[in-house]
Amino acid sequence: MNVPLYEKVWMWAAGGLIVAFVATVLITAIGGALQPPSHVETIDPAKVWTDARFKDQGVTATANGATVVALGMMFAFVPNEIHVPAHRPVTFRLTSSDVTHGFEIVGTNGNTMLVPGYVSQFTTTFDRPGEYLIVCNEYCGIGHHLMSAKLVVEERTP
Ligand code: CUA
Repeated sequence: MNVPLYEKVWMWAAGGLIVAFVATVLITAIGGALQPPSHVETIDPAKVWTDARFKDQGVTATANGATVVALGMMFAFVPNEIHVPAHRPVTFRLTSSDVTHGFEIVGTNGNTMLVPGYVSQFTTTFDRPGEYLIVCNEYCGIGHHLMSAKLVVEERTP
């Protein structure tokens, strides 16, 4: 078969791109970047309501910051309203009791997936007091667009 040189160049270029794309997926997967945050801590999604780490949802505040324990489920966050102090590190510990949800605090860098079977954890500091919207940013079913909560960042004296 007689393939003109110009066509050969494009065939090799297209083949090279396919190899590059597959290599990108494999390298990131093997490198561990495709795992959820804190993927070492697992939890039985059917028992999150009685698990010692998640049965008391809410905020524990100390002089140095706060810890928030919250759950995502179809189609709500528990608790629905979270009050945290400004200017101090706030650690969020989150999981899902059913399917994969998102937890995005709009306008901040607080954002993680809630993957059933895993505990997601991140720490951030809010410098602007006020009300923030928390939304689910992973499509989780018919009521996905209704799944939201409120974060209230409060100016507190120590
Ligand atoms: Cu939960 Cu979308």
